[in-house]
Amino acid sequence: MKEKIVKILKQNKNKYISGEIISDELNVTRTSIWKYISVLRKEGYVIDSASRKGYKLISYPDVLDIEVLERKLSTNHIGKTIYYYDTVDSTNIKAKNIALDENNGAVIISEEQTKGRGRLGRDWISPKYKGVWMSIILKPNIPPEDAPKITQIAAAAVSKSFDDLGIKNKIKWPNDIVINKKKVCGILTEMSGEIGRLKYIVIGIGINANLDEKDLTDDIKEMATSIKIENGSIVNRENLIIDILEKFEYLYEDFLKTKSLNKTLDICSEKSALLGKMVYLVKGEERFKVRAIDLDSEGRLIVEDKLGNKETIISGEISI
Ligand code: BTN
Repeated sequence: MKEKIVKILKQNKNKYISGEIISDELNVTRTSIWKYISVLRKEGYVIDSASRKGYKLISYPDVLDIEVLERKLSTNHIGKTIYYYDTVDSTNIKAKNIALDENNGAVIISEEQTKGRGRLGRDWISPKYKGVWMSIILKPNIPPEDAPKITQIAAAAVSKSFDDLGIKNKIKWPNDIVINKKKVCGILTEMSGEIGRLKYIVIGIGINANLDEKDLTDDIKEMATSIKIENGSIVNRENLIIDILEKFEYLYEDFLKTKSLNKTLDICSEKSALLGKMVYLVKGEERFKVRAIDLDSEGRLIVEDKLGNKETIISGEISI
């Protein structure tokens, strides 16, 4: 009902529409329209009301239009089913709860996460209407040890989508996208399976699209930012999601078909924030200064210490 009221208000933006007309159109009482209007106001809609004139929509929060998104999306599998929520604990948790019965490519998107989760058990700040908080359910026929490759595919898809929207960015191996050395996107890959048999993978993508300074705590601000903060303009989240899902599908299907990560690795190398640079490899409490020299064909990072000893890193913490 709320959505229907919003639709009518938007169709009549900048002019008053009476509660009577809305209630007739939606076949509910005027009192209940008034109650929904109060709820909408709490959610950030600025709606003026005047006696004998009715309601006028002044401004509204940037709510995702999933119908438009679904209509524009031109993928074969990824995002063919979309579950859209106003708020959830975590889209990854939601995805894992339904993954066994769900189709390959189902996507969970929420406007807000109350318990957004990052890697290594960290929290992930996910304020309402400001980011892209989504998870993709995948059921590829690949060995479980190949799951990290899907993380790289997602990172490459996000990075290229940012490029398309004119957002300068780098990939910080294995799963962060950074702008001016600060993180704007993180990817959390989770899976369920047994030895040798993968049941499903959930790729959680979190993008700080339109967060303001006040949305980030002081400690997070040191290493994270948002596209809006860095570029000074608001990102159209629908277009961003569409672009990411389409690019992800392209790279993912190529990987399944060719059994090679070549296309993804071309992007990850070209867009790397690390290759050729001195970085710190963090192992427990210790930090080692190494040079990041290459990505191998499996997407692992090859580093070299000052004595020329090379090491291949599967996953781990790298700090710039
Ligand atoms: C990281 O620590 O870098 C990974 C962050 C991943 C955040 C995303 S937001 C959508 C999905 N749901 C979650 O709870 N986490 C991931």
